[in-house]
Amino acid sequence: MSAPPARTAVVTGGASGIGRAIARRLAAEGLNVAVFDIASTEDGDGLLVDVTDRAQVDKAADTVRERYGPVSVLVNAAGQDGFTRFAELPFADWQRVVDINLNGVFHCVQSVLPDMWEGRWGRIVNISSSSAHSGQPFMAHYVAAKSAVNGLTKSLALELGPRGITVNAVPPGFIDTPMLRTAEQRQRLGGTVEEHIARTPVRRVGRPEDIAATCAFLVSEEAGYITGQIIGVNGGRNT
Ligand SMILES: NC(=O)c1ccc[n+]([C@@H]2O[C@H](COP(=O)([O-])OP(=O)(O)OC[C@H]3O[C@@H](n4cnc5c(N)ncnc54)[C@H](O)[C@@H]3O)[C@@H](O)[C@H]2O)c1
Repeated sequence: MSAPPARTAVVTGGASGIGRAIARRLAAEGLNVAVFDIASTEDGDGLLVDVTDRAQVDKAADTVRERYGPVSVLVNAAGQDGFTRFAELPFADWQRVVDINLNGVFHCVQSVLPDMWEGRWGRIVNISSSSAHSGQPFMAHYVAAKSAVNGLTKSLALELGPRGITVNAVPPGFIDTPMLRTAEQRQRLGGTVEEHIARTPVRRVGRPEDIAATCAFLVSEEAGYITGQIIGVNGGRNT
């Protein structure tokens, strides 16, 4: 008997940090992987796509279908944080952060959902944030968007479960990526990464590979009974 054809995954935000580790891990697991990112990738697996632009997302999804076939796995990792006192937060900044972190998920899910629906099998993982658990000062727009992603995840899980499509969210804790180090340099973390490590039960900063390993499991065949869950990967620290 011949092996079933490799599944095809889209990973947004896969040019850097967590998304990059996820794209590499899924490729190592044998999936066809296409990255949607505004930046180009080191591994040549990327399409230049702004996830806030539906026309770009739809065009890229068609390119992936032509290259590999239907998309049955989607990991939404594209994101951008922001740090501004709420009283001074321009509405345009609020909109941009909501657009990337929340509306980008809307566009990408809607764009590839027909493939999963038709194939009666799908896996969607949304990378939210542990900051949605307890809130974060100066990050109201980011936390609001990531909290909405958790809510979207739960609703979609109920709606799509009967069709064999699971939807889960992974809120990372402190993960060592360019986003985290930039926040540290700008003194936006409420302390250094080292100080946060001292307050983390497992006493280390997270690695992008920690998130990638969780995603690899959630998109596997074996994880078919897990849906609508918000699965923290945070070293034991929920903030
Ligand atoms: N690093 C952490 O500690 C941490 C903690 C909680 C949540 N997260 C979330 O994890 C995800 C990955 O973060 P990271 O730390 O790897 O950040 P990162 O900045 O290293 O990577 C984010 C990627 O998203 C891409 N991106 C940004 N806007 C985009 C757009 N409009 N369209 C397409 N791509 C776009 C960037 O080009 C970049 O490649 C984000 O959603 C972030 O909010 C990270």
